[in-house]
Amino acid sequence: MNERILIRPYGPGDADATIEIFLCAIRQVSSKDYLPAQIEAWAQVEDRGLWAERRISRPAWIAEIDGKPVGFSDLTSDGCLDMMFVHPEFQGLGIASRLLSRVEEEAQKLGFRRIYAEASRTARPFFERKGFRVITKQIVEKRGQSLENFLMEKLYG
Ligand SMILES: CC(C)(COP(=O)(O)OP(=O)(O)OC[C@H]1O[C@@H](n2cnc3c(N)ncnc32)[C@H](O)[C@@H]1OP(=O)(O)O)[C@@H](O)C(=O)NCCC(=O)NCCS
Repeated sequence: MNERILIRPYGPGDADATIEIFLCAIRQVSSKDYLPAQIEAWAQVEDRGLWAERRISRPAWIAEIDGKPVGFSDLTSDGCLDMMFVHPEFQGLGIASRLLSRVEEEAQKLGFRRIYAEASRTARPFFERKGFRVITKQIVEKRGQSLENFLMEKLYG
C-alpha cells in the first residue's frame, strides 16, 4: 500500500477535496470520540475562500492514492502542524504517517526544533505513536460547543 501513496504539495485546486476529507473525517471518524452536537459544531466550513487562503498561505501537502486526494496536512511558520485529516475509507493504511514524515522533513529543512499540534481525542494516539507528548489538555470553543483536545509537541535535535 505504502508505494501507492503519493505525497505532493497542496495546490490552488485542492480546496474542495480537502474540505470534503475534513468534513467526512470528523463526521465519520472523530464522531466516536465526541458528542453529536460537538461534531456538528466542528464539521463546518462556512467560508470556502478563507479555507483556500489558509491552506495556500503555508506549506501543505496532499496524500493521493491512484490520483485521488485521501489526506492532507500542513505546517505553519511557527511550527504548528495545524491539519492532519485522512478520508474515512482510507484509515489505518499509513497515510497520516507518510504525511507526518513530509511535515517533519520540511520542519528539519526550516531548522525547527519543535513541532506542535492541537490533537483531537481521535488523533492523540496517532501523535503519541509518533513521538509527540501531551503538554496540556485544553478546551476549545467551536460554534457554542466546548471540545477537549490536547496540546502536543515533538522536539528535535
Ligand atoms: C488520526 C488520523 C489522522 C490517523 O490517520 P491514519 O492514516 O489512519 O494513520 P496511520 O495509518 O498513519 O497510523 C499510524 C500509526 O498510528 C496508529 N493510530 C492511528 N490512529 C489511531 C487511533 N485512533 N488509535 C490508536 N492508534 C492509532 C496506527 O495504529 C499506526 O500505528 P503503527 O505504526 O503501529 O501501525 C485519522 O484517524 C483521522 O483522520 N482522524 C480523524 C480526524 C482527526 O481527528 N484529525 C486530527 C485533528 S487534530
